[in-house]
Amino acid sequence: AKPSQSPKQSVGPDYRPEQQKPTATVSTAVPFENVHTLSQTPQLIALLTMIRDKNTDRADFIFYSNRIIRLLVEEGLNHLPVVEHAITTPVGRTYAGVMFQGKICGVSIMRAGEAMEQGLRDCCRSVRIGKILIQRDEETCMPKLFYDKLPEDIADRWCLLLDPMFATGGSAIMAVDVLKDRGVPENRILFLNLIASPQGIENFAKKFPKLRVVTAFIDQGLDEKNYIVPGLGDFGDRFYTM
Ligand code: URA
Repeated sequence: AKPSQSPKQSVGPDYRPEQQKPTATVSTAVPFENVHTLSQTPQLIALLTMIRDKNTDRADFIFYSNRIIRLLVEEGLNHLPVVEHAITTPVGRTYAGVMFQGKICGVSIMRAGEAMEQGLRDCCRSVRIGKILIQRDEETCMPKLFYDKLPEDIADRWCLLLDPMFATGGSAIMAVDVLKDRGVPENRILFLNLIASPQGIENFAKKFPKLRVVTAFIDQGLDEKNYIVPGLGDFGDRFYTM
C-alpha cells in the first residue's frame, strides 16, 4: 500500500501562511528603507510573547529580554562596514575573511536603555558607553535634556543608540539631535530597539532618513497614555523593579 501523504509542514519563519498568523504576531509593515525589522522567526515571537505576558516575573523578563537584545546587537553590528582580512588557519590554509576596522560606542537613553548595555558589552568587549537622560519637562510637557555623558571622541565613532521601547519617538529624536550636535554624522548612528510604534517609526524615519533603525517588532499603535499596544507595559519598571 502507498504510504499516506502527510500534509506539507512548514518550519521556521514560514511556520504558517501570513494570513493565518495571529495578528499580534505580525509586525506592522512600514515603507522606510532605513528601518530594519529582525527576521520574524518562531523563536523571536516566542521570546516577545514571554516578555509581553503580564504574568512573566522579573527574572524571566530579564532573561528573555536579554536574548532579544543580543539578537538586536548582532543584527546592528551587521550594518557596520568591514574590510578584507586574510588569516591562516591552524591547518595552514589561508582564509579570505573580513574584519571591522572602525570604532564604536553605545549610547543608552536612561533608564530603560541601560538595560541594553550588557548585551552590547557581551558582543563588543570593553566598548565605550555614553548615557543620555531625557525627561518630560513638568512645565512645558515637552521632552527635555537633563544629562549627557558621552565619549570625547564620539564624532569618530559609530554610535549604537539604545532604547527598548520606541513610543512617540520624542526622546529618541532629542537623543539623535544631541549626537548630531556632537558631530556624529546621521549615517553613523544605529538605533536599536525592541518594540516600536508605527507613529514613532514614521516620525523618526522621515526626520533622519540616513540613520538606521533596527527593531525586533513594530506594534499596532499607542494608547491614550502613549503606551505601545499591545506592548509590554513599562519596560524600565519590569526590568528594574517589579
Ligand atoms: N515606554 C515603555 O516602557 N513602554 C511603553 O509602552 C512606551 C514607552
